[in-house]
Amino acid sequence: MKEKIIIDTDPGIDDAMAIFFASQSPNLDLIGLTTVFGNVPVEMSTDNAIRLCDILKKDIPVCTGAGKPYGGDVEPSFAHFVHGDNGLGNIELPPPSRQEDPRSAAEFIIEMAKKYPGEVTLVAVGPLTNVAHALDLEPELPNLLKRVVVMGGAARVKGNVSPVAEANIWNDPYGAEKVFATEYAKPLTLIGLDVTYAVSFSVEFNDKLEQLNPVIGSFMNKAAKFYTKFYSEVFQNAKEPVCYFHDALAIAHIINPDIFQYQDGYIRVSKDELCYGQTSFEGTDNPMPNPAWSSQPIVSAALKVNDDKVRDLIQEAYSL
Ligand code: RIB
Ligand code: CA
Repeated sequence: MKEKIIIDTDPGIDDAMAIFFASQSPNLDLIGLTTVFGNVPVEMSTDNAIRLCDILKKDIPVCTGAGKPYGGDVEPSFAHFVHGDNGLGNIELPPPSRQEDPRSAAEFIIEMAKKYPGEVTLVAVGPLTNVAHALDLEPELPNLLKRVVVMGGAARVKGNVSPVAEANIWNDPYGAEKVFATEYAKPLTLIGLDVTYAVSFSVEFNDKLEQLNPVIGSFMNKAAKFYTKFYSEVFQNAKEPVCYFHDALAIAHIINPDIFQYQDGYIRVSKDELCYGQTSFEGTDNPMPNPAWSSQPIVSAALKVNDDKVRDLIQEAYSL
C-alpha cells in the first residue's frame, strides 16, 4: 500500500522539489498540502502550492495555515532573497487555477489523521506552527498519525540563519519546542542541516532533471538557477555552483530510510536573543544525562547520508 503523506510547506524552491519528488514517487500517496508562512507570506505559500499542483496537473487539497509564529512577539520575516520575489525563483507562472480548500491546515491534518488512523505521515518542511496548532486542537493527534518527519534544525552542525539556528526552527522556536516535546506513536524524525547540506545539486544535475522530465524538470531547472545564484554568494569559495534542496531530503528519508544514518536523542529549542531558534541535540547514549534534555521524548536525528543515493532517487522519480 502506498504511504499517505501530507506535506506542510512554505514554497519555496526546495519545497517545490520536495512536493514534485513526493508526487512522482510510486510508493507515496500525497493526500494534501498544508501551507505556512516561512520562505514567503502564507497567502503566497498557498498560491504557490496550488501553482505547483497545476504544474503537476493534480487536484491535491491545499489548505492554508498560520501566517505568524505560534509563540513570541515576533513579526515574521521572509526569505525572498533566497527564493525570489514570488518564492519560486521569479519564474513567471499563471495565477493559481483554483481556490484553496476551505479547511484550515490544522483542521485538515486532524481530519485526515482521523479518517486514516495510523496511516498518515506528516512531513513538515516549514516552520512548525501548523503542527503545534493541530496538537492543541486534537490531543489524540500524536497517536493518530503514523509518524512525523521534520526538515529543520541542526543537530551537530552550524545554522543557516545564525551560527546556531536553522531557518524553519528560527521562524518559530515556540511551535518547534511544542512539536519536539510531544510523544508520538513513533519517534519523530529530524532531517536537519547535518544531512541537507551534505547533498549538493549541481547545474548539470538540474539540467538532467529537465531532460528526464520536460514539465516538472524544466520548472525545477529554471527555479534552481535563482537558488543556485544565492548559494554561490553564500559559498563563494565553492569549486562549482550548486544548490541544496533541503526539503527533498525529508522525502528521500521516507522513500528509503536506509540511505541515512541516525542517532536517537533529545532536542531542546532556545528562545533567548543570541541563540534564538537553536536546536541543541543530546544523544540518548550520554552516561550522565541532563534532565532538561533526557526528560523529553526521543527523536531520531539523521546525521549522515549517502549523497549519491539521494540524487539517484530524485532522478529516478523524475524519469517516471
Ligand atoms: O533551512 C532550510 C529550510 O528553510 C527549508 O525548509 C527551506 O525551504 C527554508 O524554509
Ligand atoms: Ca521549506
